[in-house]
Amino acid sequence: MITLGIETSCDETAVAIVEDTYELRANLIAAQVHLHERFGGVVPEVAARAHVEALNPLLGEALETAGLGVSDLDGVAVTVGPGLVGALLVGMAAAKAVSLAARVPLIGVHHLEGHYWANFLEHGPPEPPYVALIVSGGHTMLVHVPEMHRHVVLGQTLDDAAGEAFDKVARLLGLGFPGGPAIDAMAVDGDPTAVRFPRAMEDSGDLDFSMSGLKTAVLRHVKAERAAGRDLHLPDLAASFQEAIVDVQVTKTMQAARSTGVPTVLLGGGVVANTRLRARLQEAGAAEGLRVLVPSLGLCTDNAAMIACLGSARLQRGERTTLDIGADPNLQLPA
Ligand code: KG4
Ligand code: ZN
Repeated sequence: MITLGIETSCDETAVAIVEDTYELRANLIAAQVHLHERFGGVVPEVAARAHVEALNPLLGEALETAGLGVSDLDGVAVTVGPGLVGALLVGMAAAKAVSLAARVPLIGVHHLEGHYWANFLEHGPPEPPYVALIVSGGHTMLVHVPEMHRHVVLGQTLDDAAGEAFDKVARLLGLGFPGGPAIDAMAVDGDPTAVRFPRAMEDSGDLDFSMSGLKTAVLRHVKAERAAGRDLHLPDLAASFQEAIVDVQVTKTMQAARSTGVPTVLLGGGVVANTRLRARLQEAGAAEGLRVLVPSLGLCTDNAAMIACLGSARLQRGERTTLDIGADPNLQLPA
C-alpha cells in the first residue's frame, strides 16, 4: 500500500511517500527559512505563497524519487491542523486534487500526532500506553496515549512554546532565525551553570509549562550586564538558558511517565532536535527504566514522512476524510 503525505502547516513545504506505512520511499522538504529570516519569524502570507510555488514540483520529484506514478498511489495523507490557515490550505487543496485525480482515499491528520509518529518510521510502533512529549515552535505539551490514536492532554504551556522561547531568546542575543539550532550550537562550548535562570513551574505539581518568565529573565540579565559594562559571554548564556528549559522538560516528562505508569516515552517536534534535551531525556529515562524513543534529527522538525506514516495507519483502520474538509488552525488532538 503506497501513501503520499503532504505537510504545509508552517514554513516547510514537504512531500513524502511511504510503502506499507513504515517504509520510506521518498522524503522531500523545500525549506523557506531564507524567505523569513530577515523578518525574524515566519510571515504567514509569505509562507502560503511559497508553498504554492514549491508544492507541485516537489510532488513530481517525490514520485520520481520513489519511481512511482500517480496511478500507483493507494491513499493521500495531509496535515489539516494545527498551523497557519493559509499555509494549511495549500497542502489540503493539493491533497484533495491528487485524491480526486487518482481516485484514492484522502485522510486528514493532526500535525502533532504526526510529530510523535515520526518515531514509528524508525523504531516501529511500540505497544501503548505511552506518554508523548511534543515540543515545537507552536506547542509544548505532554500527552497520555492509552491506546493508539487516543490522546489525553496531561499538560501544556500556558504562554510561549519551547521553540518560541528558543527563537525569541536567540533574537535577543543576535543569533538569528530559527533560534533553536543557533542556541544549540552556541551552547556546546558554554557552561550551563554560569547563570541560574528560573525553572518556571518545575515544582508546580501539575504538568503545565510556562516559558515567558524565562525569556524576561534572560532579557533582564542582558540589560544588567550591559549596564555594568560587561561583555556578554554568549556560549555561557545560551547554555544556561537551554539548561533551564531542558531541566523543566525532563522533570515534567518523568513526572508524567510516573503518574500514568507507562513504560514508554515518545519525543516529537522541532525542539527534540536539541542535543542537550535528547541526551538528558534519554539519560533520565534510562535511570527510571523507561524506553525513550527519539526520531532522528531530520524527522524531528517538520516533514511529510511522519504525515504519510500516520495517514497510512489511519487509512488501514478504514478511516477516510471527505473532500469538503477545511483547514483547522486550532485543531485539537483526537480524544
Ligand atoms: O516542529 P517544528 O519544525 O515546527 C513547528 O511545528 O513549530 O519546530 C520548529 C521549532 C523552532 O522554534 C526551532 O527553533 C526549534 O523547533 N528547533 C530547535 C532545534 N531545532 C529546531 N530548538 C532547540 N534546539 C534545536 N536544535
Ligand atoms: Zn511541527
